[in-house]
Amino acid sequence: MTTTHSARETAGARTVPPFSVISGAQVQRALRGQEPRIVELVETVYRLHGAGDSVNPPSYFLRFPDRPTSRIIALPASIGGEVRVDGLKWISSFPENVASGIPRASAVLILNDHDTGYPFACLESSIISATRTAASAALAADRLSRARGGERPARVGFFGTGLIARYIHTFLAATGWSFDGIGVHDLSAESAAGFRGYLQTSGADGRITVHDSAEELIRSSDLVVFATVAGEPHVHDVSWFAHNPLVLHVSLRDLAPEILLASANVVDDVEHCLKAETSPHLAERLTGSRDFLNGTLDDVLAGRVTLPADRPLVFSPFGLGVLDLAVGKFVHDEVARSGELHVVDDFFHELRRYG
Ligand SMILES: NC(=O)c1ccc[n+]([C@@H]2O[C@H](COP(=O)([O-])OP(=O)(O)OC[C@H]3O[C@@H](n4cnc5c(N)ncnc54)[C@H](O)[C@@H]3O)[C@@H](O)[C@H]2O)c1
Repeated sequence: MTTTHSARETAGARTVPPFSVISGAQVQRALRGQEPRIVELVETVYRLHGAGDSVNPPSYFLRFPDRPTSRIIALPASIGGEVRVDGLKWISSFPENVASGIPRASAVLILNDHDTGYPFACLESSIISATRTAASAALAADRLSRARGGERPARVGFFGTGLIARYIHTFLAATGWSFDGIGVHDLSAESAAGFRGYLQTSGADGRITVHDSAEELIRSSDLVVFATVAGEPHVHDVSWFAHNPLVLHVSLRDLAPEILLASANVVDDVEHCLKAETSPHLAERLTGSRDFLNGTLDDVLAGRVTLPADRPLVFSPFGLGVLDLAVGKFVHDEVARSGELHVVDDFFHELRRYG
């Protein structure tokens, strides 16, 4: 239903905003071809967050005794600057979905008006979540390779090849990365073949190699992207990283703490990342300190840290709700500009205090 704002009600100087529902198809249209802009937006949000112009409390993990591999996470957040919006991402992870041919993750994002607190949009958010994750990975890959004083890596390896790996490759390609070689490794031969098919149809440059061996994938890649659903470390051998690759540890729980301790480490947010049994959390537990951390991505963006080139470099992004808010607000504003907002006219109904 596309209508005008008949639910708008005046209360002093404040008004109740219209409430709209934004579908996945609309989200995808609004974001298509916008990769460089989204990477810039994500950088702006990291800078705002680093400067304290955000509220981003710990994510809340809802887990189920009868479905131990599944979870639903609530990420409430508030971001300032020009974005200026509050809200909540509510995202489910049900890994067994994949065997039935439906995606693991599903999500909605609620945006709340800064002045009145009223929710003004509900957006399909699995695409927004994958987009902000991939934009963050592409930003980190660029800035971290520059901060080490090196060239962009030319051999990339994808360890775990589901939806997130696909989005990360799309964002790397759309922000100017090209590769001599693309390595692929997944426990599931079907996933590896599906990802290879995506690479071929997307016109990805570079020779594509599917590796049965995890060791071979890591040893032959200068940029390694972890996007598995592993719940605990399954890569233990520090010697596999002897060539000092840049590692985007997006799935957070793949690497044994010993590998982090032999590497330089950058996170998105220290308090967030050292929780929930992530590999950085295990490294803190093992050493009783946070000394293994070199800094945050914001520290790197601001030039506050120098990163050694003679060790592996691991970026572990916990994933911040403020990023979802900013990308969600971008989508909302694009859909509004195109005149295609689906407003639910009578969503807020009890608006007069005494009837
Ligand atoms: N840090 C963040 O901000 C952030 C954001 C979104 C998603 N994620 C994480 O990214 C990961 C991937 O998400 P997705 O939607 O692509 O999942 P997905 O289920 O679509 O794909 C995961 C793939 O990993 C493979 N896999 C699982 N364990 C493996 C192992 N030990 N070795 C090799 N391959 C393995 C699976 O076979 C599957 O193909 C999840 O862990 C998710 O939580 C992180």
